[in-house]
Amino acid sequence: MADVLLRVNHLKKYFDTPGGTLHAVDDISFDLKRGETLGVVGESGCGKSTLGRTILRLYEPTEGDVYFEGQEITSLSNKSMKALRRDMQIIFQDPFASLNPRMTVSEMIAESLLIQKIFTRKQGPQLRARVSELMDLVGLSPKLINSYPHELDGGRRQRIGIARVLALDPKFVVCDEPVSALDVSIQAQILNLMQDLQDEFGLTYLFITHDLSVVKHLSNDIIVMYLGQMVEKAPAKELFSHPMHPYTKALLSAIPVPDPDYAVDRVLLKGELTSPIDPLPGCRFAKRCPFATEACTKADIPLREITPGHFAACILV
Ligand SMILES: Nc1ncnc2c1ncn2[C@@H]1O[C@H](COP(=O)(O)OP(=O)(O)O)[C@@H](O)[C@H]1O
Ligand SMILES: [Mg+2]
Repeated sequence: MADVLLRVNHLKKYFDTPGGTLHAVDDISFDLKRGETLGVVGESGCGKSTLGRTILRLYEPTEGDVYFEGQEITSLSNKSMKALRRDMQIIFQDPFASLNPRMTVSEMIAESLLIQKIFTRKQGPQLRARVSELMDLVGLSPKLINSYPHELDGGRRQRIGIARVLALDPKFVVCDEPVSALDVSIQAQILNLMQDLQDEFGLTYLFITHDLSVVKHLSNDIIVMYLGQMVEKAPAKELFSHPMHPYTKALLSAIPVPDPDYAVDRVLLKGELTSPIDPLPGCRFAKRCPFATEACTKADIPLREITPGHFAACILV
């Protein structure tokens, strides 16, 4: 039985903005087992990145707890948190933004090992050997060792980003839209690589994407977020075959590739995603939902287990 590596308990992250309090992450709870992948999907602005960053304490949570290997980490001092940094890592959408344009591939990977003091500058031969090993693990040709980021395509740059994270031998990785900036053909290569690395090193992923098709094959469970809240959660296959929440159905019907295994009623999204500033009670999707009734906006809609392991927050389900 896989054990729980990460437990997120009623996590909230609010931002004070000139317009009011923005509920970016509003009461999210889940367990993530070691070696598994939890997909987090939803439109841009629904709070996915904030969720990932708050779990890692790159943002301080407004409320709620995060347990990592059974230890509550939201109340840890910065010093104790530092010790956990290697175990809990993040991969971003655009590694180019975080790569130093004046560093070569080997320097960028070596930097990661040096910053975390896994090697010192004096250990040149060992450091170089480890860099070569990491390049091999992420499928970067040894020929690229002295290349600069601008000489590489997006897929290779993301491989560097992955190597820099893998260098730290993490247990948990927040993958924040890691393939969203890549061509579809390269997306598949990077997803395969991430899957292989997960199998080989027992990595646990929180995989964030606005594109449901990306997490379909990679995730054990998927949560669907809407304006800071979880509206549905289910095992990946179940979510695709029996979506329950009108919002999930709308997201699924936007996936371009028709799949005869999955019967999807088309629900078209009307209107825009607004900001969750001082939200009113009730379903936040009601304004855009074709099935909304008066009851939907009367009170908050709790997440309920509709069938075993399948949760949805909708009174019409
Ligand atoms: N540092 C911040 N200060 C104020 N508002 C923020 C900040 N970061 C994110 N937000 C707001 O929180 C909401 C969720 O943003 P984000 O987590 O980036 O969404 P996603 O990753 O799903 O696109 C958005 O309305 C965004 O404008
Ligand atoms: Mg984001």
